[in-house]
Amino acid sequence: MRQKENAQILKLPLDQLQFLQQCAGFESKVATLYHHYANIFADDESLSMLFKKTAVEEENHAQQFHLAIRLQGTGMEAVKIDVTKASANLKKLEEIVERLTGTTPFPEDALDMAIRLEEQVALLHMSNVVHFQDAGLKQLFEAMMAHDNGHVTMLKDYREVIRMGKSAMEFC
Ligand SMILES: [Fe+2]
Ligand SMILES: [Fe+2]
Repeated sequence: MRQKENAQILKLPLDQLQFLQQCAGFESKVATLYHHYANIFADDESLSMLFKKTAVEEENHAQQFHLAIRLQGTGMEAVKIDVTKASANLKKLEEIVERLTGTTPFPEDALDMAIRLEEQVALLHMSNVVHFQDAGLKQLFEAMMAHDNGHVTMLKDYREVIRMGKSAMEFC
């Protein structure tokens, strides 16, 4: 009985699990947006590849949340942010992402949009959102995050390349 009680203490409450589910859904929506950008910029191979790579990374983030949900909070102490507030903010962002997925922006604007989006959600990843009880699990999630921290920098670098290209053209 005592063991059962302990096991229950380690599980996350339903609202926190639902929030992780919402995070997973959000990451998938962002991935869909980036796949959309990859498609509409198919003529520009490097830009298209950049969005495709970023989309795949967002899919990985979604998978990380799915993994946490499958574990039902085992090895985790709690979601360490205000779930009600974060959930409401995420819902607004979700609507923006859904709307953007139907649009055809210029490359520079798509990059700006992606950079702003990434900056807003940088803290909403699995390794930041959950307070872990199990150190090994914490390490695992941090390692999964660590290998793709570079994509915001890559988006910014590409935007710079476009800007520099434009100003170079103005001198011609
Ligand atoms: Fe992400
Ligand atoms: Fe991202």
